[in-house]
Amino acid sequence: MTTGIKDKKLPVGIDGKAMNLSVVGSGYIGLVTGIGLAMSGHQVTCIDCDSTVVTKINHAIYPFYEPSLDGLLEKCVNKNCNLKAVEEYSEIANCDASFICVGTFSKSENNTDFSNIADAAAQIGHALRDTNAYHLVVVKSTVPPGTTEEVIIPILEKQSSKKAGRDFGVAVNPEFIQEGNASRSSLNPDRVIIGEHDQKAGDILQSLYESSYSGPIIRTSIRTAEMIKYASNAFLATKITFINEIGNLCKKLGIDVYDVAQGMGYDPRIGQRFLNAGIGFGGSCLPKDLEELICRAQQTGYDSRLLSAVLNINAAQPLILTQIAEERLGGLKDKVVTVLGLAFKAGTDDMRDAPSLKVIAQLMSQGALVKTYDPKAMPRAKTIVGDGVEFCASAQEAIDGTDCVLIVTDWEQFKDEELYRGKLVIDGRRALDPDTANHVCAHYEGVCW
Ligand code: UDX
Repeated sequence: MTTGIKDKKLPVGIDGKAMNLSVVGSGYIGLVTGIGLAMSGHQVTCIDCDSTVVTKINHAIYPFYEPSLDGLLEKCVNKNCNLKAVEEYSEIANCDASFICVGTFSKSENNTDFSNIADAAAQIGHALRDTNAYHLVVVKSTVPPGTTEEVIIPILEKQSSKKAGRDFGVAVNPEFIQEGNASRSSLNPDRVIIGEHDQKAGDILQSLYESSYSGPIIRTSIRTAEMIKYASNAFLATKITFINEIGNLCKKLGIDVYDVAQGMGYDPRIGQRFLNAGIGFGGSCLPKDLEELICRAQQTGYDSRLLSAVLNINAAQPLILTQIAEERLGGLKDKVVTVLGLAFKAGTDDMRDAPSLKVIAQLMSQGALVKTYDPKAMPRAKTIVGDGVEFCASAQEAIDGTDCVLIVTDWEQFKDEELYRGKLVIDGRRALDPDTANHVCAHYEGVCW
């Protein structure tokens, strides 16, 4: 398998040696980061407070579904023996650098809860208190511009009784990993952004990347690096929402938005990617990062009308799917409706901010009987949506006897038109080709085509 990273026998840190590195937080970003560093030959300790996650990693079992990394964890844990997981932070004292990869989550009033990051910084600071060696702290968690300087560094300094830039280094190194495509987007990223508090911190981090990466490395200030991450995700969210808006209009005008997107995308200033119209974006990053950026703007007294509009349009987009179903069925009460796909996109079992959740809630509130199937996300979905929904063993079982199929995630197996013979199908992801689907289905239409 090509991972974009070389198996090096003689890895290099800044002084030409392998480094001892700790990665705090073994969620999606943390574990993928740890694997990337271990694949470069460094000795990696993943730290996580969840004992189940720690045990799984030490047995080379992924705590989440990520097919693009198949075999790499096994290689690092069992073959190269340079990745392990622990629950304690004490190991940090023996490491050259620590990567903060813990998650943030949104509080009720569109506000970010930084308690995980504050905890991680406090624990790292505490572990550094009795060490004499220079230690690099790298913030990979996505934090609003200003957070590292205003929150993280003061905590590190207080807990360690040391001075940033002198006794320890700090850098911000945002992650652009796409779930389901982690091997390319993490191990061989399009660019590496290094926001440095001090030059030594930036030099060490650059040397860590240079041992296995030959793409562009951009060195900048800490705040700029934090903003690059938010601006990138806000742009992607806006691009998706833009094409959905054009799609909603195209449908009314009898124009296929996918033809329009293709014609637009040949302009290199626009590009073909992220112009797939549908029920909108979900996932752990785009919705949350957009909310946080809007909130950060508000804190400065700036009303970010464009980003607020993107968020609002995106929130409404999945509900167009249920509106169409309601119109076609003459109401949803007691109608059997199949929601095909639950994960926020194909290739992952991640249910965070998945459009399927909005679709299911809307169907249930209108009295529909919901059947569903997803090849990977059902265990996670069951803990969120509960018993009101019938979880089926296959796509076919979910479709049998239904009044209407809503395609919500474009898993490859859902692209088989034979599944839908004689059914009313409303496609939220352009999983089917409208030209042929219309011959197989009783009725086929897309959310915005
Ligand atoms: C995103 C960013 O791409 C990544 O750089 C960042 O680090 C984390 O957030 P991810 O959440 O894994 O990655 O998913 P992505 O592939 O970006 O898709 C996000 C959402 O947009 C999904 O729900 C997807 O279905 C939707 N999408 C994407 C569209 O609706 N249309 C598109 O054309 C592309």
